[in-house]
Amino acid sequence: MVRETRLHPDDLIAPLFVREGIDEPQPIESLPGQFQHSRASLREEVRQLKDLGVPSVILFGVPERKDAEGSEAWNPDGIVQVALRDLRDDHGDDLVLIADLCVDEYTDHGHCGVLDAGGQPDNDATLELYEQIAVAQATAGADIVAPSGMMDGQVFAIREALDDAGFDETAILAYAAKYATALYGPFRDAVDVQIAGGGDRKGYQQDVANAREAMEEIREDIAEGADMVMVKPAMPYLDVIARARAEIDVPIAAYHVSGEYAMVHAAAIQGWLDLEPVAFEHTLAIKRAGADLILTYFARMLAEGMQ
Ligand code: PBG
Repeated sequence: MVRETRLHPDDLIAPLFVREGIDEPQPIESLPGQFQHSRASLREEVRQLKDLGVPSVILFGVPERKDAEGSEAWNPDGIVQVALRDLRDDHGDDLVLIADLCVDEYTDHGHCGVLDAGGQPDNDATLELYEQIAVAQATAGADIVAPSGMMDGQVFAIREALDDAGFDETAILAYAAKYATALYGPFRDAVDVQIAGGGDRKGYQQDVANAREAMEEIREDIAEGADMVMVKPAMPYLDVIARARAEIDVPIAAYHVSGEYAMVHAAAIQGWLDLEPVAFEHTLAIKRAGADLILTYFARMLAEGMQ
């Protein structure tokens, strides 16, 4: 009766991977229970998530062909666009469809943008690619596009491109405070990404030491037109979530990322922790800190536990 925070399936967004050119889902070793889906198995997974009350999914694509610019990301017949159309056909308006908007899964060098002569993403040239992706994703049926590349000015550029193409109703969930964490490792296995030359994303993602800077990024993204903002990863950044909650009034999403999920599984496999109660505790803590929406690979398990 006096419980302050309650989890509901409506709080959850399930991240899902869809891979081009496969007939059977491929298990992802470092993310137990998660798959690179085929088109058909993605549809089935989403049907089951919907039946469990999960209202939303975010899609990541694994293309057959990667190139320097990541052009499959905006190909109208690219894997995410095809999957968005499948899911829109299956669910009509009854599913909130989010598309991760970035090129790292689509570039042969694994960076979140097109590279300059020094081998780092060229911020402004990359914005032009993001604009094309936003329009391709909205055309294919995305309700929300979620730019995750941390390029400066990306929200403004995408908002303008969407509006110019007549998609003024398409919302933007900005990965606003996205840290250059060591916790994205399993995700990069899931999307077959290795950053060229053993590079990292510290040039464009946030320093893990900084919280005030995160607030500045969040305020900037809202000023540029973000409808919702995200803090990512979640558990080590509950202070940032709480601080954002105190200062801003748009919905806040938090991403419990691949490494957070994998750590809990690894300990459970050893018999050192119990999987379900730890997953519930993590998710409840993220909501208690102030997140309205939680992106988590545990979505299905949590929703099953809430039936
Ligand atoms: C970039 C992107 C990443 C994740 C979501 N979008 C990886 C990165 O920035 O390296 C990570 C998600 C996770 O670890 O679960 N498109």
